[in-house]
Amino acid sequence: MTIAPLIKILLFSLLLQQESGSVMSGLVKSESEDFIDWWQHTVFYQIYPRSFKDSNGDGIGDLRGITSQLQYLADTGISATWLSPIFQSPMVDFGYDISDYKAIQPEYGTMQDFEELIDTAYNLGIKVVLDFVPNHSSDKHEWFLKSAAKEPGYEDFYVWHDGLLQDNGTRSPPNNWQSVFYGSAWEWHEGRQQYYLHQFTKEQPDLNFRNPKVVQAMDNVLLFWLNKGVAGFRIDAVNHLFEDDTLQDEPLSAKTQDPLSYDYTRHIYTKDLPEVLQMVQHWRKLLDDFSAKHPKGPTRIMMTEAYAGLTQLADYYEDVSGTKGSHLPFNFHFITDVKGDSDARDYVYNVEKWLIYMPRGHAANWVMGNHDNPRVASRFGPASVDAMNMLLLTLPGVAVTYNGEELGMQDYREISWEDTVDPPAKNVGEELYKEVSRDPERTPFQWNNKKNAGFSDSSKTWLPVHPNYLELNLEAQKAANKSHYKVYTDLIELRKSAIMRLGRFDIEPLSRWVFAFKREYPNFESIITIINVSDEEQLVDLSEFLSQPKKLVVEICGVDSNYKYGDIILGDGGGQLNLAPRGGIVLSERSGRIMSERRRTLVKQLVKSGNVVLVALLVYNLWRHKWTKVSFNQQRF
Ligand code: GLC
Repeated sequence: MTIAPLIKILLFSLLLQQESGSVMSGLVKSESEDFIDWWQHTVFYQIYPRSFKDSNGDGIGDLRGITSQLQYLADTGISATWLSPIFQSPMVDFGYDISDYKAIQPEYGTMQDFEELIDTAYNLGIKVVLDFVPNHSSDKHEWFLKSAAKEPGYEDFYVWHDGLLQDNGTRSPPNNWQSVFYGSAWEWHEGRQQYYLHQFTKEQPDLNFRNPKVVQAMDNVLLFWLNKGVAGFRIDAVNHLFEDDTLQDEPLSAKTQDPLSYDYTRHIYTKDLPEVLQMVQHWRKLLDDFSAKHPKGPTRIMMTEAYAGLTQLADYYEDVSGTKGSHLPFNFHFITDVKGDSDARDYVYNVEKWLIYMPRGHAANWVMGNHDNPRVASRFGPASVDAMNMLLLTLPGVAVTYNGEELGMQDYREISWEDTVDPPAKNVGEELYKEVSRDPERTPFQWNNKKNAGFSDSSKTWLPVHPNYLELNLEAQKAANKSHYKVYTDLIELRKSAIMRLGRFDIEPLSRWVFAFKREYPNFESIITIINVSDEEQLVDLSEFLSQPKKLVVEICGVDSNYKYGDIILGDGGGQLNLAPRGGIVLSERSGRIMSERRRTLVKQLVKSGNVVLVALLVYNLWRHKWTKVSFNQQRF
C-alpha cells in the first residue's frame, strides 16, 4: 500500500470520529462517546422472587427457580436484574421485614444457592442488584430484641419514646404520626415499657439512623453483599430514613376525615428530611470506594426508591454542591403522574419535566411498574401494553421493567379476602381491602398453560395464579406470530444500536391524544416513536413533526397494529399514519442523507479507487458506529 491511501484512511477515520463525536445527547452520560457505563443505558428487570419460579414445589418462588430462568432473561436481551428482598424474614411484608440482613430466607434457598445464582448470572452477562431495606428491620431481628431489652450498645438502635401521660393516667403515642400502612406509627412495647416508631407495619420497627452504630452496621451489610459479587442495590423507602427529633405533630392535610389514614396528615416531619440526602451520599461514597478498590469489576451502583418531589429527586443524583448521590433515583412519573385518562400533553410534560430537572451528565430513568402498583395492563388497559413498552424502551437512559410486563400480565383483582396476604390490605379490613391490596400485581409469573401456569408443582401457590394464564403466558407468546413478548424483545434489540444509546431526543404532542419523540444521531437513520393514548383510532399527520419529507419505515409495531415490519408509512409527498386505539409504533426515518456531502464525496472516491482495504474499512466503520453494543465489563470484583 502506498502512503496516499494510508493518509486517506487516517483522514476518513478522523472524519467519522469527528462527526459522531460532535454530538452529546446530554441525557445519557458518557465520559467518551464510545463508552457508556453498563448501568447508564440498561434495562433493569425487577424480579419478585416469591412469584417468579418455584423450584421445590412448595408454592413459593425461590432462588433456584430464578437461576433456572436466567437464560430466559438473557434470551430476552436483559442484562441487569434487581431482586426484591431474599433475606431472612418472618415475611410479614414479604421480605421487607428482615430479621437477618446477611442470611438468605430459608424458603428461598441457601447461601450456596445465592452464589450459584450470581455465578450463573455472571456467565450470562447479567448484573444482579439486591434490595437493601435500611429504614426498618423485622421486630424479630436480634438488634430489635436487644434494643427492647436495653442491652448495652443497642439501646438507641431504634426510635423509642415514653409517650404522653394523660390526666387519667393512661398513655398515648408521642404524636399524631401515622404508618404508611394505616394506623398509628407508634406501638407500645410491653417489655421496654416504651413506644417504638414504625413507619410501615408494627412488625417493621424503624432503625435510628442518627445512631452512628446503626450506620456502621448497615455499611457492613452493604460490604457483605458487595463482596459476594452483586453490582449494587435498590434502596428501599429511602426518604423515610429520618424523622424530626422534636417529634412535633404533623399538620392535617384535609384529604381525608380518617385520622388513621396515612393521608390524614402532611408528612413534613417524617419524610424527605435533609439528612436523607447525606445518607444517600454516604452510601454513594461507599460504593465508589468499593468500585475503586476492585477496578476489574463493574461500577457498583444504587437505585433509590423515593416517592418524592422533583427537586429532591434531582438532588439525589447530585446536589447543588456537586456531591453525587444515587446513580438512579427512581422516576415513578409513569406510575404516579399519568393515568388511563391522561392525554398526550400529560405524557410529554412528564417526560420533559424529568429531563429538565435531572442535573446534566446523569442518566435518565423510567420505571413502568413494580410490585407496589397495579400493572400496566390494569392501569392503562390491556390494549396499551405494547405502546407503554415502546415508550419505556425507546426513551433515552435506563428502563425499569417489572417481571411479567413483557407479557402484558394483568392484575388479578378478584383475589378473595381469605386469600389476601398483603399487610396494608389486611389492615384496612374486608370492606376496603381491594382498594389498597398489592396482591393483584404480585401473582405468579405465567410461564405456560400447564398447572399453576408453570410456576409451581404445588397444589396451592402462595397467591393464586391469574386465571387468564391459559391464554396469557410466555410459551404462547413465544409461539405466536405477533405477541407482546415479541414486541418487547424487538424493542430490546433496537436499544442496542448507537442511536438509542447516544441519540439526541426531542418530544412533542402531535394532537390531544398522540405524542411522538425522535432519537437522532449524526449519519444514522432517526428513530421515531409515536403513541396514541386514547381509546379511539387516531389519524396522524406527521409532516409537522418531520423537518423535511422523509421515507418512514416501520421498525416495530404493536400486536393490534394495522402495519407490519418494513411497511413504508410516508412517501416523499407526505401522508397519514393510522394508529390503533392505545397503539404505538416505532419508525425509522430513511432520509437518504445518511452521510454528509463531505463524506459522500470521499466515500465515492474511495469506492472508485477500487481499493479493497479502504472499502472494507468504510464498511467496518459504518457498522461499528451503528451496531456496536455497549461494552460491558464482565469482571465481578
Ligand atoms: C417499599 C417496598 C414495599 C414495602 C415498603 C416497606 O415501598 O417497595 O413493598 O412494603 O417499602 O418496606
